[in-house]
Amino acid sequence: MIHIQHNKAIKNYTTFGVPVKAKKFTQFSDIQELKEVASHLEVLDEEMLILGGGSNLLFTKDFDGVVILNQIKGIEIISDNNEEVLIKSGAGENWHEFVLYCVDNDYAGIENLSLIPGSVGASPMQNIGAYGVEIKDVFHSLEAFHIETGEVRVFNKEECNFGYRESVFKNIYKDQYVITSVTFLLTKKPIFKTSYGAIKAELEAMGVEELSIKAISNAVINIRSSKLPNPKEIGNAGSFFKNPVIKKEQFDELIKNFPEIANYPLPNGDVKIAAGWLIDSLGWKGKRIGDYGVHKNQALVLVNYGNSSGGDIYNLSTDILNSVKQTFGIELEREVNIF
Ligand code: EPU
Repeated sequence: MIHIQHNKAIKNYTTFGVPVKAKKFTQFSDIQELKEVASHLEVLDEEMLILGGGSNLLFTKDFDGVVILNQIKGIEIISDNNEEVLIKSGAGENWHEFVLYCVDNDYAGIENLSLIPGSVGASPMQNIGAYGVEIKDVFHSLEAFHIETGEVRVFNKEECNFGYRESVFKNIYKDQYVITSVTFLLTKKPIFKTSYGAIKAELEAMGVEELSIKAISNAVINIRSSKLPNPKEIGNAGSFFKNPVIKKEQFDELIKNFPEIANYPLPNGDVKIAAGWLIDSLGWKGKRIGDYGVHKNQALVLVNYGNSSGGDIYNLSTDILNSVKQTFGIELEREVNIF
């Protein structure tokens, strides 16, 4: 039986922790309850928001609709041989706990994605990535519930159309499906990915002699903890902006004026620019205005020190966008979903 609450404070369901309310709030922990929610939605005809870990969104005002928390739990081994394992997780599982479960069982492939906030169900939505690995590298399939028809559809990798922080669930199928489970193809013969600069240095600093996925996971945890604010202590949603991709011609002009610009040439000739570098070079890093600001160790991350409003944080992001546009002629895009 689902239970609908009214005027519910939802601050604690998001990692930014801004004080807002939802007109209605409910949750489901299996497909049956999700069906109940869906039939309710049909009657209500209201705006809805499916919430996982609440780690990639910012509310700028009270939510005038129904917020629905995905609580589907459970981890299941689908198949297992000497080489690889197919493992299925309920969408409502916490991502980092799932990573630790895999690392502790010697299932390799997602150790570089340790300590990313959020839920398993949200991970394919924006093809989460860090330290040289993206979800799409280990993704097998997912199950999603179509809200309008109640059908459960299996999506394979191609059908998700993954890109940099992108999938069909953010685009053509936005608000149409609820991801209920995700299946990953992990390996028992790890291919260690340590080429991402910071990892090697951290493994050395840790004194690791024999490489293991546990060591890599610990290195990533150390790096992330030193650079990124812990949402339990300081409200934030990770990178607020995406790293922009620009044309080679624009880059060649830019580098003349800004020879230090942090950049990654892409195989197709375009160039990805580190948005953190752009924002940092304009002096925003560590800037604090009252209860909110830009994180002191990573300019891509906007933070809420206490009870700042989502509107204030949003306005700060607009100021940053404008200043980057003015100096570098680059339009940054927000990575965080704004409501
Ligand atoms: N940089 C600065 N100043 C800053 C931040 C970065 O100069 O304040 C420079 C760094 O020195 C480096 C470059 O920018 O040369 C890139 O920085 P970093 O390696 O920290 O990675 P990032 O591009 O800032 C991305 C992801 C992170 C992910 C890291 C590690 C995006 C938008 N962000 O950050 O993802 O953890 O790489 O792989 O792609 C997230 O999405 O929430 C997130 C935290």
